Amino acid sequence: MNFLEEIERRRTFGIISHPDAGKTTLTEKLLLFGGAIQEAGAVKNNKIKKAATSDFMEIERQRGISVATSVLAFMYKDKKINILDTPGHKDFAEDTFRTLTAVDSVIVVIDVAKGVEEQTKKLVEVCRMRKIPMIVFINKLDREGKDAFDLLDEVEQELGLTVTPLSFPIGMGYDFKGIYNIYEKNINLFSGDSKKNISDIIGFDDITSPELEDHIGVEAAETLRDNMELVTGVYPAFDKQKYLEGALQPVFFGSALNNFGVKELLDCFIEIAPHPESKIAEERLVKANENELSGFVFKIHANMDPKHRDRLAFVKIVSGTFERNKPYLHVRHNKKLKFSSPNAFFAEKKQIVDKSYPGDIVGLHDTGNFKIGDTLTEGEILHYKGIPNFSPEHFRYINNADPMKSKQLNKGIDQLMDEGVAQLFTLELNGRKVIGTVGALQYEVIQYRLEHEYGAKCTYEHFPAHKACWVDPEDPNNDEFKEFVRVKQKFLAKDKRGQLVFLADSQFSLQMTQQKYPTVKLHFTSEFE
Ligand code: G4P
Repeated sequence: MNFLEEIERRRTFGIISHPDAGKTTLTEKLLLFGGAIQEAGAVKNNKIKKAATSDFMEIERQRGISVATSVLAFMYKDKKINILDTPGHKDFAEDTFRTLTAVDSVIVVIDVAKGVEEQTKKLVEVCRMRKIPMIVFINKLDREGKDAFDLLDEVEQELGLTVTPLSFPIGMGYDFKGIYNIYEKNINLFSGDSKKNISDIIGFDDITSPELEDHIGVEAAETLRDNMELVTGVYPAFDKQKYLEGALQPVFFGSALNNFGVKELLDCFIEIAPHPESKIAEERLVKANENELSGFVFKIHANMDPKHRDRLAFVKIVSGTFERNKPYLHVRHNKKLKFSSPNAFFAEKKQIVDKSYPGDIVGLHDTGNFKIGDTLTEGEILHYKGIPNFSPEHFRYINNADPMKSKQLNKGIDQLMDEGVAQLFTLELNGRKVIGTVGALQYEVIQYRLEHEYGAKCTYEHFPAHKACWVDPEDPNNDEFKEFVRVKQKFLAKDKRGQLVFLADSQFSLQMTQQKYPTVKLHFTSEFE
């Protein structure tokens, strides 16, 4: 298979959802179709259960699991499918945001009874902003849930999407009879037997045919015809180009647990979802089919073994071919590095790989060379965009609790921040360090890991900040900016890259500051035009 064919057969995507909507179950069913696993229950549950939110030993255990499920790859109908895991737990939302920089499309899972939930909203917003192609899967149709049309309305209104159903349920919950596959024009009858992969598929080019009654009964047939009339009248016809531009989102219905409607989703997905095409770097647009390798680090995972401070850096290949033992330029360090044992991922296993192609993820063993956003090339200076930091929600001073171990503490903080566990802000006024996180859970993780991996102890102290805003003055020499810096000195800090950040102590003070210094732009993410 040549290089272009390798690119064209890759589908790299993420599944996003609010916890409990069925992401893990759907992932598992997709792997079953790919023959990557043999039985249900084989994919270990990577979600951090609500009950475990204050139990960091549990988090550590789950971190181990999540290495294994970070990338799940399998072959299906000659397509190479890479599923990138996205933690659903809100305290790890930033991890998910970063993973979304490495996907070419996403599948959004929604619970038919719960509808659009909070975490789904946040994640879909990020995908919408980046124009990532999205397919929506409405799950748990075997249960009583909301009316299909109400749900489609909700998805449009609450998620700001333009939907077009490509399948439609026939009944729901107790009365659930099956799915009409609009895309392939056939009916798939529900048998309620999860072991049976595919139930009877009946071809139906024309649902006005009286045969429909024979299969689903008079009442259901009438309802389906009415519903289809409404669907064609109300929703735009499917248009692949619009889907690829992020302007139209196809919707499928089904039940992941019962393996129902999943095959329809997967078959359509491999046909319409994009293969890797191009990615914008600060310097230029890089096409996947260019010969020279480029890729970027979107995730770093620490090894579970505290004796080896060895980490795995996950690199998404953007262009060219990644080859084992070939020297590549680490752009930030301006240093050539060779990798003798790059890992590829297959189902839940890692294995050493000689060649990887655009769309693939390789795991590189790292002893502290990488941080998130780093680029590898064959010599060209490239920086991939789109891996911003978002304003944390929680802020605390970090203090050294063991003066003999300050070197270890600093090194530990440095490396944990490179992994993207949290963000570090150094106050301009006195050089004190403030850690910002998305969820309170990370403070426990940091404390635990500093102690177990670096032998350092820390304590925290409340820091009264509400939001971190990246400062972007129109003119750094004007009087307004100088006054801003003088008056707000107490609230100013540098982030890890040395960018100036304003740590607003309340929503009110943020608004007042914006009004008083209109030429000093304040951004909630570290990347802005
Ligand atoms: P998540 O990764 O999005 O957090 O969700 P997960 O797949 O773990 O699913 C959450 C719960 O919903 C699980 O039940 C799962 O069995 C159930 N579920 C998933 N898909 C369907 C479906 O199509 N129909 C029905 N009725 N249930 C579904 P649980 O009891 O929380 O966990 P478990 O004990 O079954 O693992």
